[in-house]
Amino acid sequence: MNQMKNLGTPLSPAAVRVMLLGSGELGKEVIIALQRLGVETIAVDRYDHAPGQQVAHHARTIIMSDPVALRELILKEKPDLVVPEIEAIATQELQQLEAEGVVRVIPTARAARLTMDREGIRRLAAETLGLPTSPYQFCDSLAELQAAIDAGIGYPCIVKPVMSSSGKGQSRIDGPGDVKKAWDYAMAGGRVGQGRIIVEGFIDFDYEITQLTVRSIGANGEIETQFCEPIGHVQVSGDYVESWQPHPMHPAALQRAREIAKAVTDNLGGQGIFGVELFIKGEQVWFSEVSPRPHDTGMVTMITQWQNEFELHARAILGLPVNTTLKSPGASAVIYGGVDAAAIEFEGVAEALRIPNTDIRLFGKPESFIKRRMGVALAFDADVQVARKNAKEAAGKVRPRVARSAD
Ligand SMILES: Nc1ncnc2c1ncn2[C@@H]1O[C@H](COP(=O)(O)OP(=O)(O)OP(=O)(O)O)[C@@H](O)[C@H]1O
Ligand SMILES: [Mg+2]
Repeated sequence: MNQMKNLGTPLSPAAVRVMLLGSGELGKEVIIALQRLGVETIAVDRYDHAPGQQVAHHARTIIMSDPVALRELILKEKPDLVVPEIEAIATQELQQLEAEGVVRVIPTARAARLTMDREGIRRLAAETLGLPTSPYQFCDSLAELQAAIDAGIGYPCIVKPVMSSSGKGQSRIDGPGDVKKAWDYAMAGGRVGQGRIIVEGFIDFDYEITQLTVRSIGANGEIETQFCEPIGHVQVSGDYVESWQPHPMHPAALQRAREIAKAVTDNLGGQGIFGVELFIKGEQVWFSEVSPRPHDTGMVTMITQWQNEFELHARAILGLPVNTTLKSPGASAVIYGGVDAAAIEFEGVAEALRIPNTDIRLFGKPESFIKRRMGVALAFDADVQVARKNAKEAAGKVRPRVARSAD
């Protein structure tokens, strides 16, 4: 456990300096939360003008999966904390730097390494901690995949590259005819370390949630674990399109969900917020995966909590107290690019905001793709179903288009 030095003055020798590795929409909000506490921020991404770089004190562009470049940057900037926002980072190098005492990684370098590929975290959860998960097998070839399915995984099942996120390379297999297609799709969609996949038995869940879990320092100086209200969400092709909070749950299922979240986050350790993804059927709960950082479905907390998930993360990593209390039920809905173009503009923002109790965030990404997340609509209402409807309606009113000047 680490108590932080006193908060100071940015751009001075008394500054607390925090480096974000990955500066997308989630990193941007963490940076804003840190800025409000007078923390000096260094936003790192693989391309210039990433959302977080637009609001940080310093912007750096490097290939974060390159261990040499990553070490060089950290040694040069000497941040007090390194906060990974994405998975595709040279996490082994981070572990080495942490072991050398050069830097503190949030929540820990080991957590960043174990969660960067599906194998590390799945084996930890299922084999070391004995938590319930879907049946699974890791495979390095099409033949191994077919053998794993035949030997017990069965149909339907889901194939995912071990290194991928947001549903990339992921597909469902309903019968023998789909196996090769799923293998080829996974090979095309993996990040690095291509060739290895996980095949998981399909869990026929009633619903899935993200259990945001915060590890922060309590009044007695010891680590405390606190939970946010469960977040329900809808995923399309492995990518989140809509989320809401709270998701109503049977008390036994909620208790089980939190036991699982506690077990995983206790093991990963450190300070900060975690997004624990769980599948639920009746009172039965399965662990799916965990992000040792704010979670995309948790963007809803920007309208539902007194301290949103980014503020909770900022406070927890700085050794400050946190408050996970819900302010109002609410919902979020993703605004996709809809076009492949640079420097797009957004029509319909005013109409969107005329829908009662809504808000939006436009992330400021320099380039839009049809399926790229460019913004999010938020809504609150005492009735979570009304909030969902309003958030979706607001997202639908925002129409990204090629900028007029570029017509
Ligand atoms: N074994 C399974 N059974 C049923 N549904 C599944 C299973 N695995 C994944 N899914 C569905 O696919 C979604 C995405 O899966 P997963 O979270 O593993 O992928 P991901 O690429 O890491 O996504 P993200 O980065 O958006 O969290 C899940 O939220 C769930 O809806
Ligand atoms: Mg997921």
